[in-house]
Amino acid sequence: MCGVFGYTGKSVANDMVFQGLKRLEYRGYDSWGIAVNNDGKIQMFKDIGEIQEREGLKELPQTTTAIGHTRWATHGGVTVNNAHPHMATDDKFTLVQNGIVENFSQLKTKLEKLGYKFTTQTDTEVIVKLIEEQSKTTEDFEIAVKKAFKLLEGRNTIAILRINGDILAVRNGSPLVIGKGKDGIFLASDSLSFAPYTNDVVLLDDYDFVKISNGKLHIENVLTGKEKKIVVQKLKNTYTNIEKGKYEHFMIKEIVEQEKTIFNATEYTQTELKPLVQAIQEAHRVYVLGAGTAGFAAGQIAYFLRNIAKIDTQEVRSYEFNTYKNILKKDDLIIAVSQSGETADTIEVLEMAKKHGCKIASIVNMLGTTISRMSDFKYYTNAGPEICVASTKVFTAQCAWGYILAKTIVGELKEAKKNVTDLSNLLTKYFSEKTYSSIEKIAKVLKNKEHMFVLGKGENAYTALEGALKIKEISYKHIEGFAAGELKHGVIALVAKGTPVFGIISNDEDCKDLVSGMEQVRARGAMTIGIGDSKFSKLEVFDYFLVVPQVEEISNISNVIPFQLISYFLSKELGNNIDKPRNLAKSVTVK
Ligand code: AGP
Ligand code: GLU
Repeated sequence: MCGVFGYTGKSVANDMVFQGLKRLEYRGYDSWGIAVNNDGKIQMFKDIGEIQEREGLKELPQTTTAIGHTRWATHGGVTVNNAHPHMATDDKFTLVQNGIVENFSQLKTKLEKLGYKFTTQTDTEVIVKLIEEQSKTTEDFEIAVKKAFKLLEGRNTIAILRINGDILAVRNGSPLVIGKGKDGIFLASDSLSFAPYTNDVVLLDDYDFVKISNGKLHIENVLTGKEKKIVVQKLKNTYTNIEKGKYEHFMIKEIVEQEKTIFNATEYTQTELKPLVQAIQEAHRVYVLGAGTAGFAAGQIAYFLRNIAKIDTQEVRSYEFNTYKNILKKDDLIIAVSQSGETADTIEVLEMAKKHGCKIASIVNMLGTTISRMSDFKYYTNAGPEICVASTKVFTAQCAWGYILAKTIVGELKEAKKNVTDLSNLLTKYFSEKTYSSIEKIAKVLKNKEHMFVLGKGENAYTALEGALKIKEISYKHIEGFAAGELKHGVIALVAKGTPVFGIISNDEDCKDLVSGMEQVRARGAMTIGIGDSKFSKLEVFDYFLVVPQVEEISNISNVIPFQLISYFLSKELGNNIDKPRNLAKSVTVK
């Protein structure tokens, strides 16, 4: 979703914020803006589309303090006027917001009755006017900000630049972190955006009110007024490797990195996994949850826990967890799966589960983020920064972690690690020109198709869902994945002559059913593409077959890779924006 970035220090603040916004760009945005304070005045530049050097931007005076924003519109169209920052009526402060003011229409109506005129369609402007209204009740601007903030419903994080050069911010729900560099202080939605300058961070909690004034940092709880001790933490492995290197796009770079990242995610020892293993064994029931790709990884992890470790495990999409609320018990364990660690749908479940007294475990990629901080048992995928909006390497890393977790429960961690190492080695060979050209050939055929389907069964059912999502996200083609058993119960009605149907096949107990499903669609004229074990590559039922490295029990992980590659080459063929597909955001911090 949106990105907030602020800086004050010895460097030119507008340049720092511009660069910071560019590093936040991967999170997804549609418009952006930067504000600086200069000589008792605030000046701003806003634009829609890509963050790039612009005439007006160069005209901003070089100052020591600035804030900026990349917007992912929730209220009001994508226009320069709706872009943040939003200026106060008296030009004395300007404000950016990440989130949704859920009670914005009630607040707006009240403010309109009081005579306030709105010039944008955003919920953000309501916050600006609310602060102005509260300022009438107190001389102290900071008190007005705090009072206004307390009237907001929903997950909102705001940052304000005042004409006196102070930066104020309040965090609730949406992410915000402080970076303490040698020459300045940063305030941003994620630590990756200031990683080239510092990995010394101050992590913020919900309702933290932040003031950065004359290079000094003050934090207090907005509800209690209690000052917070500033604890600077060093983030391990702060990532600076956020360049494309020799690759044309982050997506292909990240796909190829899987030869290492699958392994990295499993670099846990028995001792490190033990606390979670124990919690799983003691739990009444285990829920694994996530949204989107992370939701499918959650499904795969639950599959491993049920089938390898024989644990009563239920996967649930975070945004549907409420339907389990009435049966949730305090001795249930929740495992949250997330790349960003900031997904609002998932955080909301964790907040509810915590209130129930449940223990929480998580597997997250981004360090120091909310989901990890809420967890009793924290694990990291260690896949390095994933910049392409579509998740690839983190998905397989999450699944691989779930696999070693399940194997550890049954005392087979060593064997699991060997399997993961074998798969990594096979993948190194797999990422080759030969593989790419076979995928490109299929991508060319798919270019003119509008509807496609993916069948998987058992261990490959979630692979089918994720495979389809990957193609959908970047190519914008209509493609649905489903468990092969669904076919004859309805989906087959959609199969017509030439409809591409993918079948994911491993050498397992479900392979016969998968083949029979593929026979059924072929009989109706489908174009069939097999993905998986070479053993099946010569079967007549497949018009095309993409062989994937198979290692027992985890071939379901590698089977997703051809879909990632098809998504990449097909979207390239279609001329789409591969790393930043339309409408999507990397970090979904609003509900
Ligand atoms: C992945 O390709 C998607 N962009 C999306 O489905 C994502 O997985 C989902 O929004 C969850 O994000 P998270 O992993 O950061 O929690
Ligand atoms: N709700 C605000 C808007 O639509 C902020 C959205 C965001 O987080 O980018 O402008």
